[in-house]
Amino acid sequence: MKYVRMPIEKESPEQLGYEKIKNNLTETSVRDRNIKDLRLVIDDMLLPYGDHLGDPRLREIIAKQSGVDDPNGVLVTAGAASALFLVASSLLEPGDKMIVARPNYGTNIETPRAIGADISYLDQKFEEGFKVDIEKLESMIKPDTKYISLTNPHNPTGTMMSLSELKEIIAIAEKNNIWLLIDETYRDMFKDEVLPVAASLSDKVISISSLSKTYGIPGIRIGWIVCRDKKMNDLLLCAKEQVCIGGSVVDEYIGYVALSQKDEWIKKNDATIADRFAVVKEWIENEEYMEWVEPKAACTCFPRIKPEVDVDVEKVYRLMNEKYGTYVGPGHWFEQSKRYMRIGYGWPLHDELERGLRSISDSVKESLK
Ligand SMILES: Cc1ncc(COP(=O)(O)O)c(C=O)c1O
Repeated sequence: MKYVRMPIEKESPEQLGYEKIKNNLTETSVRDRNIKDLRLVIDDMLLPYGDHLGDPRLREIIAKQSGVDDPNGVLVTAGAASALFLVASSLLEPGDKMIVARPNYGTNIETPRAIGADISYLDQKFEEGFKVDIEKLESMIKPDTKYISLTNPHNPTGTMMSLSELKEIIAIAEKNNIWLLIDETYRDMFKDEVLPVAASLSDKVISISSLSKTYGIPGIRIGWIVCRDKKMNDLLLCAKEQVCIGGSVVDEYIGYVALSQKDEWIKKNDATIADRFAVVKEWIENEEYMEWVEPKAACTCFPRIKPEVDVDVEKVYRLMNEKYGTYVGPGHWFEQSKRYMRIGYGWPLHDELERGLRSISDSVKESLK
């Protein structure tokens, strides 16, 4: 393995220090919650090694919510990040072929790269509404491609494929007998159309999700893998046991409580995100120098400074960070030009978001050539 530290992690707000940031528009989660918000007090709990697959109560809820019958088809992991690692390290050896969407959350690309896989990138482009080009995807498949890796809803753009597009891609994976990984970390967050968990539609799909973003509790590191294929589940369990045996029983219990409150929480959460979405939409529609593909889900978008605008991009970020204390996810976190920036609008409070967006506009204006 050849590990490289990803810019998105090296420059993340928690590494920079939250106290240095006035307007935090970098996050793709909703605001972090306190354990009290879950109405949870833990004062008596045995701390053994837990079930290696994960707390059975937690797995049962996940299985039910995912539309799969067997809770043994759920593997609890330390966040979606480690789920991605387990899948990549189980399926790939150096030189193996895989296809991955770009831009993407870093680990989807970086772990296959660390393994030394032969990666083909499926670019999702602004000009094409950041859509997955299904024809292109099919044309990229080779006889020995090990897996396709897509993220839906998509990070960083907040776009989402439709059910018919998802089914078309699943049919391609089945026809070619290759695995399809769908990273669904944002699945339960603010969307028009509710898609089924992709793994419930086919034995060739591996779905990944977590409690970090929608539930605002990334500190407990609870994610999961759903797959209906028994052999694949056994393989992923081998990988998990080699990494950590099992997960934290405390985290899994808190995760179980949080997920038990899903319906009540999602309603509240979606209302908050709707409020923030309206702020971003109004801002971009009145923005002279920037443009976006309107997001359809989650709480992130990936606008860009219009190509015809002559601007000192480094200065934009310098002013934004140093003068205004505003932070976003710059394009290079996603291997894109820094004219693009990811704006997370679910984490900041209403006023903080308004201030942050205003300061992006001011930073661009003050950096025109
Ligand atoms: C698409 C996607 N997958 C996975 C992760 C990892 O999240 P976590 O490990 O906190 O569940 C992230 C985090 O930003 C993400 O955006």
